[in-house]
Amino acid sequence: MKKNRGRFIVLEGLDGSGTTTQTRHLAKWLEDQNLTVKKTFEPTDGPVGKLIRNVLSRKPVSSDSNTPASFSEDALCLLFAADRIEHSHQIREWQAGGRDVVCDRYVHSSIAYQSLGPSISAERVVETNRGVAVPDLTIFLDIPVEACLERLQGRNESPSVYEKKNILAQIHRNYLKTAALYAEHFGPIYTVDGSRSVAEVTEAIKVIVGKLRKGVSR
Ligand SMILES: Nc1ncnc2c1ncn2[C@@H]1O[C@H](COP(=O)(O)OP(=O)(O)OP(=O)(O)O)[C@@H](O)[C@H]1O
Ligand SMILES: [Mg+2]
Repeated sequence: MKKNRGRFIVLEGLDGSGTTTQTRHLAKWLEDQNLTVKKTFEPTDGPVGKLIRNVLSRKPVSSDSNTPASFSEDALCLLFAADRIEHSHQIREWQAGGRDVVCDRYVHSSIAYQSLGPSISAERVVETNRGVAVPDLTIFLDIPVEACLERLQGRNESPSVYEKKNILAQIHRNYLKTAALYAEHFGPIYTVDGSRSVAEVTEAIKVIVGKLRKGVSR
């Protein structure tokens, strides 16, 4: 018997907004309903994703160099898109196999983060991402920048190049400003107040995802 196509759900938000935490809780909730779920993330752990991670955390990108690589936003935009195109092949396969896919960050991150500088517009990022798998649903965890920074302070990871108050404030504005453009190309997007407790945020996400039936999506 042909399997119902799995749903593709994306969680988006600023650094520290809780996307990783909520990806985990959403995947667990779906698994508890005996659904098969693939939890995934971007940048991926493939070769291009690893390169991006090293650049964002200012680490050297090769073993024969101690110097951290620094790429322009244009180059980063293309790297993110290349990583996503490879990821999209996997996402489509998982969906075709009937698995629900829950992804921590996707195209809206590229739009909000890569259009920070003057050299690259949100429309250009959209153009660069043409042809990638389109989510059935995207949830944006909205939270004030100050709260993100507070949460990130308690974390034991090297900070990314974006973890500064003024930069995060600009990324937050970009997320809000480009929501309609995103929805036009990459499907419906819902905003959830991410500043509440982990359990409250999870409940709000469950309500939205609960309305999305399997096998009826694009
Ligand atoms: N609703 C919440 N209330 C309080 N703390 C939270 C909440 N959600 C997540 N946290 C905590 O905040 C920190 C950041 O959360 P998390 O790693 O999920 O954020 P993120 O959005 O994935 O960040 P990044 O984009 O940098 O990976 C973690 O220590 C996590 O335990
Ligand atoms: Mg995370």
